[in-house]
Amino acid sequence: MYSTEFLDLPPLAHAAGCLRLPGSKSISNRVLLMAALSQGSTTVHDLLDSDDTRIMLDALRQLGCGVARDGTTATITGLGATRPAGARLFMGNAGTAMRPLTAALAVLGGEFELSGVPRMHERPIGDLVDALRQLGCRIDYLGEPGYPPLRLGAGGAAPALTLTAPIQVRGDVSSQFLTSLLMALPLVAQRDVVIEVIGELISKPYIDITLNLLARFGVTVRRDGWQRFTIPAGSRYQSPGVIHVEADASSASYFIALGAVATMAQGQKGLKTIKIEGVGANSIQGDIRFIDAAVAMGATVNSGPNWLEVSNARWPLQAIDLDCNHIPDAAMTLAVMALYANGTTRLTNIASWRVKETDRIAAMATELRKLGATVEEGADFIAITPPKPGQWKAASIHTYDDHRVAMCFSLAAFNPAGVSVRIEDPKCVAKTFPDYFEALFALAEAPPGAIPVLCVDGPTASGKGTLASELAARLGYHYLDSGALYRITALAALRAGLALDAAHEGAVAVLARALPVRFVGDKVWLGDDDVSDAIRTEEAGMNASKVSVLPAVRTALVDLQHSFRRLPGLVADGRDMGTVIFPDAPLKVYLTANASQRAERRHKQLISKGIPAIIQDLLADLEARDLRDSSRTVAPLKPAEDALLLDNSALSIESSVTQVLDWWQARQPFSPGSTPA
Ligand code: DC
Repeated sequence: MYSTEFLDLPPLAHAAGCLRLPGSKSISNRVLLMAALSQGSTTVHDLLDSDDTRIMLDALRQLGCGVARDGTTATITGLGATRPAGARLFMGNAGTAMRPLTAALAVLGGEFELSGVPRMHERPIGDLVDALRQLGCRIDYLGEPGYPPLRLGAGGAAPALTLTAPIQVRGDVSSQFLTSLLMALPLVAQRDVVIEVIGELISKPYIDITLNLLARFGVTVRRDGWQRFTIPAGSRYQSPGVIHVEADASSASYFIALGAVATMAQGQKGLKTIKIEGVGANSIQGDIRFIDAAVAMGATVNSGPNWLEVSNARWPLQAIDLDCNHIPDAAMTLAVMALYANGTTRLTNIASWRVKETDRIAAMATELRKLGATVEEGADFIAITPPKPGQWKAASIHTYDDHRVAMCFSLAAFNPAGVSVRIEDPKCVAKTFPDYFEALFALAEAPPGAIPVLCVDGPTASGKGTLASELAARLGYHYLDSGALYRITALAALRAGLALDAAHEGAVAVLARALPVRFVGDKVWLGDDDVSDAIRTEEAGMNASKVSVLPAVRTALVDLQHSFRRLPGLVADGRDMGTVIFPDAPLKVYLTANASQRAERRHKQLISKGIPAIIQDLLADLEARDLRDSSRTVAPLKPAEDALLLDNSALSIESSVTQVLDWWQARQPFSPGSTPA
């Protein structure tokens, strides 16, 4: 997951390949609650691991359910006949936890407090509370009437429920209110319980998911149209024992769109596809109907029982006019596909966007305009006309703590103008798809030279490694410690019995070319050996210095170093990064510090590792090494001509990082001030 402040997407050219999607949020949280309300234990496979499911699991634990978790499998031991007495539950921004738990706990009785993040306290729940109050549940608003936070069952007495008359609930703000009643009322169905929907029911496919899953847990609801639902007398949750969660069809929409937008490489129609595993066209999730919209816009979609394969069939895409009531979440993806269409795309009947994670109509309109699109918005529609050629603008996309805004706007990076797109607060995707950007980068390809590289060089002990790895962490970029490659080469050569001299240059180069090296977190592996410590000694540094003057070895390591230039970008640290390996890097920094400062830092470092050292000796060593390094003929230590010099003798690490990030930001096309550095 990217926890950076922003994530810059360089222009992307095309995409192809196969991915497995994480589990559906809607199914995961429904299944977890139904398992909790059953007797006995339920093993849930392919569970989504995200913010919203973690919130549900935490709440269930607090209520006294057994929760055992192993990756994407969870075993829930249900409450059975136990009634939790009370709890204070934090619901974050998870509507799929807030609404159903409110209903279930209100009918069970006990005293509960449910709250969430500030946005949750702006998301309506009044229609559900009204329905539950009709039944006789006691619910108090702790803040604004109609919105969380809520207190249920003040006083703790079990409610005397009136189940004789049909329970009326409005269906035109959120279908989750009806879902919540459908999930709660089997707990008290000593007689037939009837729910009547007032007003037009929106997002019907989500009700289908609820009914389908209730059936798997032994509750068969009778449905008369979309107006009247009857939970038969004697209904009771029965665990199916084991249940598999389908992959998330809303998450699939980004990759279906990717297939529609990015598989046509230089007119080679049909050669490339995006294959999506975990969900097929026969999914129980309503958002799977996004496929039809994507096909109408120009995608070709093939499907099997548990997979989809998507490619592009027409370019530009076809603009559409579509009632999106049945696919409210996935429709946001259409709004971004509209940037690639041949005219104005109108998405209508989407009033529910206004009460989601953010006001999604306003958010989409604002951010699409930043890219140069013409957007018209109304109470329940949005109309998007793509930017004309030449009118595309690089944009820093504000994401409003809304995972779907972040994910769908990543598709704008395929724009024909080749402008970059910045996604602010990329970690908000954790709500449903923590590794979304990793999945995108595994499939997408940038045009040659488009992946940015930031080079850092400087004399030994200048702190360039610390600076470079911190920069990589702040930008979400990969990190190349090229010195480590020379250190590993020397180690591998010595282990193979080769002397590190010119006489063995050819043999050491052969070894370097096929170095079985892997960087995993802060560990370095050579084959099956963890060599992280072995390459960090002073002696290993000396040995690296010896192999690094052998030209054939330097050449042998070029391809390996180039292979680190992967999406979304690279920070490369070392001698010839800016001069030889990545001469086109948009920013090169040459870090210096006076020798006595560096000797002091090295001294501290060694002492902290328990290695005895004398400052004067270190200083003499450093000065000798500087001289040797800068006077050697092969790859001497010298700043690239276009490098910016940074003397950090008197700077903290943080101020050096800030300075370089400022330089980096100044080279980006995003308007100043849109994102703090
Ligand atoms: O940065 P370091 O101390 O890990 O580097 C080890 C040695 O390798 C040092 O003598 C410089 C040399 N080196 C090089 O010649 N070219 C690079 N790109 C990186 C390091």
